[in-house]
Amino acid sequence: MHHYKDLGLCNTKEMFHKAITGNYAIPAYNFNNMEQLQAIITACIETKSPVILQVSSGARKYANQILLRYMAMGAMEIIKTAGLSLPVALHLDHGDTYELCVSCIESGFSSVMIDGSAHSFEKNIELTKKVVDYAHQYDVSVEGELGVLAGIEDEVSHEASHYTNPDDVEEFVGKTGVDSLAISIGTSHGAYKFKLKPGESAPPLRFDILEEVERRIPGFPIVLHGASSVMPEYVNMINEYGGKMENAAGVPEDQLRRAAASAVCKINIDSDGRLAMTAKIRQVLATKPAEFDPRKYLGPAREELIAMYKHKNEHVLGSAGKA
Ligand code: G3H
Ligand code: 13P
Ligand code: ZN
Repeated sequence: MHHYKDLGLCNTKEMFHKAITGNYAIPAYNFNNMEQLQAIITACIETKSPVILQVSSGARKYANQILLRYMAMGAMEIIKTAGLSLPVALHLDHGDTYELCVSCIESGFSSVMIDGSAHSFEKNIELTKKVVDYAHQYDVSVEGELGVLAGIEDEVSHEASHYTNPDDVEEFVGKTGVDSLAISIGTSHGAYKFKLKPGESAPPLRFDILEEVERRIPGFPIVLHGASSVMPEYVNMINEYGGKMENAAGVPEDQLRRAAASAVCKINIDSDGRLAMTAKIRQVLATKPAEFDPRKYLGPAREELIAMYKHKNEHVLGSAGKA
């Protein structure tokens, strides 16, 4: 057992409490490789932001669970060397089984999501409670989910979204003992969140559902998945340099600012990082076709990621200066 506290990580309890009372949200950025982790850490050091480092089961398979633990330890060492003590959580994104959650906790994760949203309400409660009972023995935070986001949730694919029913949240939170709750209010995963005709803008998120959830469970930490803005500058850059991403659209940043000021205290962003990285790599390879040193395109991609994460912390989530 590698306990997260021995790695210098923290769970999400205090982070969420401060974020709710301070009307901002903690960034939860996914990473799969060294450059993404370096960019997240650098951006959060430079903006003095708390952060949740998020790993999906796909990322865990890709990067290797042992290496991931050492990468998280390395990140904590870099933060310490910078003379800072940023709160950092290592979180399992969309855990789909009890066994996966246990394995992550044993390898040093300080927070896990058990995504039982594909199950019935009763089965979701049963599975989530089982994970909570195990995780809480080690002071590990647990995120549950009610409602279904359209799109792909790891290996679970959903055709349509089902908004969270506010009537369910009190019972779910009470019976499971979860520490935070992901809800569905109109976001979805990936780069194609809305089918928009030219000139059309994205439909607003269902803030009425969010407000009703807040009324039912006052002060309880809410999580927003699928919160990439699908930044048009990166989509355009990808298309300009040989890519093909038609009608990609995300959640407008003003909607995310509004969510961050509410009980939403964790905002999940993965696709924006993928887009920034791909856009920059495409640009370098297209404009410097003779280049073959990976550092010459991964380096600029990492710089672009740093700028993007700093922008999110400073101007969207409001987490800058909160560490
Ligand atoms: O919500 C899903 C995350 O963006 C992770 O995606 O399973 O492709 O790593 P992934
Ligand atoms: P995006 O695809 O909008 O970045 O959402 C990421 C996410 O919710 C990870 O859990
Ligand atoms: Zn998600």
